[in-house]
Amino acid sequence: MGVTRLVVANWKMNGGTEDLDQIDAMAARLFGRDLTGTVAVAPPFTLLGAARPRKGGRLKLAAQDCHQEADGAHTGDISAPMLAALGVDYVIVGHSERRAGHRETDAAVRAKAEAALAAGLTPIVCIGEPEVARDASEAEAFVLDQLDASRPRTSDDFAIAYEPIWAIGTGRAAMPSDIRAMHRAIRGVLGGPQPILYGGSVKPDNAAEIAQVKDVDGALVGGASLRAADFLPIVEAFLAPQAAVTEV
Ligand code: PGA
Repeated sequence: MGVTRLVVANWKMNGGTEDLDQIDAMAARLFGRDLTGTVAVAPPFTLLGAARPRKGGRLKLAAQDCHQEADGAHTGDISAPMLAALGVDYVIVGHSERRAGHRETDAAVRAKAEAALAAGLTPIVCIGEPEVARDASEAEAFVLDQLDASRPRTSDDFAIAYEPIWAIGTGRAAMPSDIRAMHRAIRGVLGGPQPILYGGSVKPDNAAEIAQVKDVDGALVGGASLRAADFLPIVEAFLAPQAAVTEV
């Protein structure tokens, strides 16, 4: 079963036109390299149009959200067909910052993922437990419930990003043994070739260790994705063909 590795740069609500040269630097460094897998950059909506001509080869374009409807009276929202028309390849749905800040439910996340698929985009569906669930030894049950209720049912062409909420933006990545256990559980439910990414404080100095964990097929990177100098070593750690897989 071949799983295509995927590393995603999630710029969140950061970046202006002056940062497009970071994408140029990523494209230049990725060109012609012996890597296995795909890299996607998710700048804010405002930069997608300018980023489009910079994609190519293994460098793809991602958006950070989409609406579940194709069009209509939804002021301020962006639909999946609009993203597809802009040349976007992937869309992140259900990030914990949107679940918290915009009260997105599992049902809404599923609807967005299915809307993305209908528009020809590949959704990256985010799941992850809050610290209180981890402390109560309920992390796996929480995440598997979220997976069951959020993942699209219309196609197997999606990716999952496991992002423990307490690890996002904190500098405190999950332990490899905990990542291993959760990814194994997620793989057991999916049973298919969907890449399972880890996200939460992935940095150049911990990327190699996380990349070697079995059933980790890539990363969703926030803070360390804004600068090519930080992001490229992470890409190399996850996509270098010699990356070995270890049981931890
Ligand atoms: P972080 O964010 O790498 O800054 O922890 C990850 C994410 O939220 O996708």
